Amino acid sequence: MTATIIDGKLLAQRLRGDCKLRADRLNAAGITPGLAAVVVGDDPASKIYVRNKLKACQEAGIRSEEHALAPDCSLAAVLALIDRLNADAAVHGILVQLPLPAHLPQAAVIERISPDKDVDGLHPHSLGSLLSGHARFVPCTPAGIMEMLKTTGLDLRGKEAVVVGRSNIVGKPAALMLLQAGATVTLCHSQTADLARHTRRADVLVCAVGKPQIISGDMVKPGAAVIDVGINRTPAGKLLGDVDFGAALQRAGWITPVPGGVGPMTIAMLLGNTILAAERRATALGVKLGA
Ligand code: GUN
Repeated sequence: MTATIIDGKLLAQRLRGDCKLRADRLNAAGITPGLAAVVVGDDPASKIYVRNKLKACQEAGIRSEEHALAPDCSLAAVLALIDRLNADAAVHGILVQLPLPAHLPQAAVIERISPDKDVDGLHPHSLGSLLSGHARFVPCTPAGIMEMLKTTGLDLRGKEAVVVGRSNIVGKPAALMLLQAGATVTLCHSQTADLARHTRRADVLVCAVGKPQIISGDMVKPGAAVIDVGINRTPAGKLLGDVDFGAALQRAGWITPVPGGVGPMTIAMLLGNTILAAERRATALGVKLGA
């Protein structure tokens, strides 16, 4: 069996087109959706990610601004910037690119973002609302994963879903969203004994570990939907996922490629959350949006 490849680039393009229509509707009502991106330091990968996010904003009719801070900038300076962005009515969404330099406590920085502008969905308010089943902003990568799973037509109710990786940004929220969709969820991590025993049961397998090809072909259940979140650069500069794509392609029912899989979806969901923040603000102000 050869798996169907879930084309994240194509799906993201479609979703970004929907965002553009919603942005046009806001613009027609006199509201320009705005995203502020904060980048601390000069991590090359972070700079590329943020550049791609801002370019996507421009194409979708979202105004964006980048705030680049020095690698040694103080916590007080980062918090002061976030306070200023929280108070700025032209900014509907705030994104702090992660990881932060080691001297900055990530939790304190993220908690400073107004929950109404937390378009990355990483504030404890957002994560808590997801846990309670009434999500306000869903984290972008897990939201993208769920959109990709929708394209398979699989009914997730009663399915075995295995998530590998327990980060706050992907693994934990992805497990919650799969649970909400009715799957029976197992969350595996670096201390899991006999990982393959779990992954081989998975009708849906989500891998978000950051270790190249940690999932070999024989760890995939025949016919499974395999979502590969890993983006690992080899010394030769090639991008590899967490899954051995060539081997898994021969066993899975559906699989996402790297690159061109989950990555573009994360950006599309960020645009969606930014538009949502602007729409909520419009509603709060009593602004009527057209059809
Ligand atoms: N670093 C890697 N992925 C992400 C993301 O989705 N959001 C933020 N803020 N930082 C990241």
